Amino acid sequence: MNDPAAFVEEAIQRLQAAVPQRTIVAASGGIDSTVAALLAYRALGDRSKAIFVDTGLLRAGEIEQVGRFFAASHLPYELVPAADRFFRALAGVDDAEEKRRRIGETFVRVFETEAEKFGADRLIQGTIAPDWIESGGALRDTIKTHHNVGGLPKDMRLTLVEPLRDLYKDEVRAVARHLGVPEAERQPFPGPGLAVRVNGPVTPERVERVRVANAIVEEEVERAVAAKEIARPWQYFAVLLPVRTVGVTGDNRVHGEAVVVRIVESVDAMTATAMEMPRAVLARISERVTRALAGAVVRTLYDITDKPPATIEWE
Ligand code: XMP
Repeated sequence: MNDPAAFVEEAIQRLQAAVPQRTIVAASGGIDSTVAALLAYRALGDRSKAIFVDTGLLRAGEIEQVGRFFAASHLPYELVPAADRFFRALAGVDDAEEKRRRIGETFVRVFETEAEKFGADRLIQGTIAPDWIESGGALRDTIKTHHNVGGLPKDMRLTLVEPLRDLYKDEVRAVARHLGVPEAERQPFPGPGLAVRVNGPVTPERVERVRVANAIVEEEVERAVAAKEIARPWQYFAVLLPVRTVGVTGDNRVHGEAVVVRIVESVDAMTATAMEMPRAVLARISERVTRALAGAVVRTLYDITDKPPATIEWE
């Protein structure tokens, strides 16, 4: 793809052919699905509906942030509240790949419900080339089981349409600029959301803990970036560990879980380096996390492992 304008014209024609009636679009707030949704909106107008699902696994403020991003991109969308469905599907599941599978399946069931309400028989996704190359390739692990290829149940009732299948990230960015999508400096965030940031069981309480801790990590890192104490990391987040560890408040010993802080530098997520952080920033994070989650989280750890041998995510 050399010419974004020509790509857009062609994509519009292909979408008009691929969607004879109505379609919904799975919009996650990321650039790929936003571009896919805008193309569908241009091609099909109100025969296309972009859907943003509140899984209950989103970060603090994410619903509002994504809403502002869609508004700035002039993309009409509908927010679908589905937290209960996701937590039900995840009840009692510890295994990371099983979490991803169940989340992928729940997404599709939610899409099917919404498609039925809208009278649609197509589902548009913003899958790009590295997604399916990574998901299906014999040489790579299944990185993105969700929302993209691998995670879709075989019996899905909707026909999948993927207008960006052949594009790479820099090409999507060029199309996004052409469509007037504002540049967003968002760090990568896994499709399965905070479910893979709580090691072990996924409950609303544990997700809320990691949400609170994660917001503190984001705030403190962004403050340090703004103050030029550190360069902007590739990813920075919190993970909740299912350990029982002892702490002390006043005269009392309390047992709680532990939070891991993960801050990495990388260019393409294939390899990554644990960032060397100023002690004061880590101390502030630790102090704020254990105060905000007093009694529930009594310890914060800093992950100093590079990728390889570790991955960026804990699950
Ligand atoms: P790892 O943990 O394999 O992650 O070093 C590499 C990059 O991929 C992101 N990641 C995911 N993205 N669904 C996604 O959409 C997933 O299941 C998933 N798992 C990892 C991770 O955040 C990092 O940027």
